[in-house]
Amino acid sequence: MTDVGVGWRCVVCGTTVPLSEPFPWRCPRSTATDRRHVLRFVDDRPPPRPLDDPNPFVRYGPRLAWWAFATANRLTDDDCVSLTRSVVGDAVVTPFCRSEVVSDELGFDVWVKDETGNVGGSHKFRHLTSILLHLLAAERLGLLPTRPPLAIASCGNAALAAATLAARVGWPIDVYVPEWMDDAFGVRLDELAARTHRCPRRPDDPPGDPAVHRFRDAVAAGAVPFSVQGPENALCLDGGRTLGWEMADAAAAGGTPLDAVFVQVGGGAFATCVGDALGPSVRLHAVQAEGCAPLARAWRLAVDERDHELSDHEIAARWHELMIPWPDPHSAADGILDDETYDGLGVITAMRRSGGGPIVATEAHVLAARDLAQRGGFRASHTGAAGLAGLLAARDHVPDDERVAVVMSGVAR
Ligand SMILES: Cc1ncc(COP(=O)(O)O)c(C=O)c1O
Ligand SMILES: [Zn+2]
Repeated sequence: MTDVGVGWRCVVCGTTVPLSEPFPWRCPRSTATDRRHVLRFVDDRPPPRPLDDPNPFVRYGPRLAWWAFATANRLTDDDCVSLTRSVVGDAVVTPFCRSEVVSDELGFDVWVKDETGNVGGSHKFRHLTSILLHLLAAERLGLLPTRPPLAIASCGNAALAAATLAARVGWPIDVYVPEWMDDAFGVRLDELAARTHRCPRRPDDPPGDPAVHRFRDAVAAGAVPFSVQGPENALCLDGGRTLGWEMADAAAAGGTPLDAVFVQVGGGAFATCVGDALGPSVRLHAVQAEGCAPLARAWRLAVDERDHELSDHEIAARWHELMIPWPDPHSAADGILDDETYDGLGVITAMRRSGGGPIVATEAHVLAARDLAQRGGFRASHTGAAGLAGLLAARDHVPDDERVAVVMSGVAR
């Protein structure tokens, strides 16, 4: 990493991008036909100490890539604090407590990070806040004379978070949604002044989600990829880490560090961020539903079914053969049905480094987890409780004296 120090490096091809460069969304070598590149923030500095502030985006601000970009370009820390408050002035460190009900049911200590009350009802705003703050910093620096629209393909928690943040700063946003999107959800997006586009499949569309095709068309025409997938926008992997830092600090303050964390995985950005923030001492288990488990399959091909383990670099080089799109994703946990784990490289690296691994939850576990979550007082959806489904699936392999964490995110609608 000596050639970067602080900046960006693609985990697939090694291309570097300087920290001071605006809009480092994608690896310069990512193309329309080969999007399997992802820039990661490289930071050789000792992690700056948290600031004494209840807002996680201020508290951990100096560790964030957007903040480092802003200050490298001569904004001050005070400028960064005021930009942060203008976007997420109401963000707070969310509760992280031992759940009596869940611990009693499982027979060991289960700690629950409850994100259901956060901005937009889930953790998704954390991924998007760092993108928006980078844009606002660039605008303040005179690097963005006009505001290009934000674009996102989603009809779930990410769309809601994106429209909520955009509305707060009056930034135009286009949300690309599937044709079958629920009308009630459309009304919520309308209320937030988002421009919603239903996306039927066009005769000349390549395979894949038509909403994603229209999102990519918009980005090619100049829109900002306001995405929660690292290969589309590396800055989303920045703010997501705040949640893991909150967990690590709360566990350290309580005097009993965590042993393992079970995280629901769709595109994989969330688990990548949590794994990064918690570091190698906390086993990361990526949880997928049996009806859509492309990451578990990639892990099997890359790690379990080999005489010698592939290095992270070799896995990255073979990603196109290891990450095979799942043919018919289905589960009640409908927010984690991404047919490809776009950020799977980050998740695999974090799992290997921490001694963790993937877990596939049966549909019965998915249903039972949401039930147990609700009994425990958490208003999580099936998607939001899917990390707990993984813990139910793995309960016989977790020693009784372990301290295990799950994240409830995504309020039931
Ligand atoms: C509540 C909730 N948890 C977890 C995830 C999974 O996040 P990722 O797609 O980054 O793996 C999602 C994705 O939509 C979600 O809505
Ligand atoms: Zn690259």
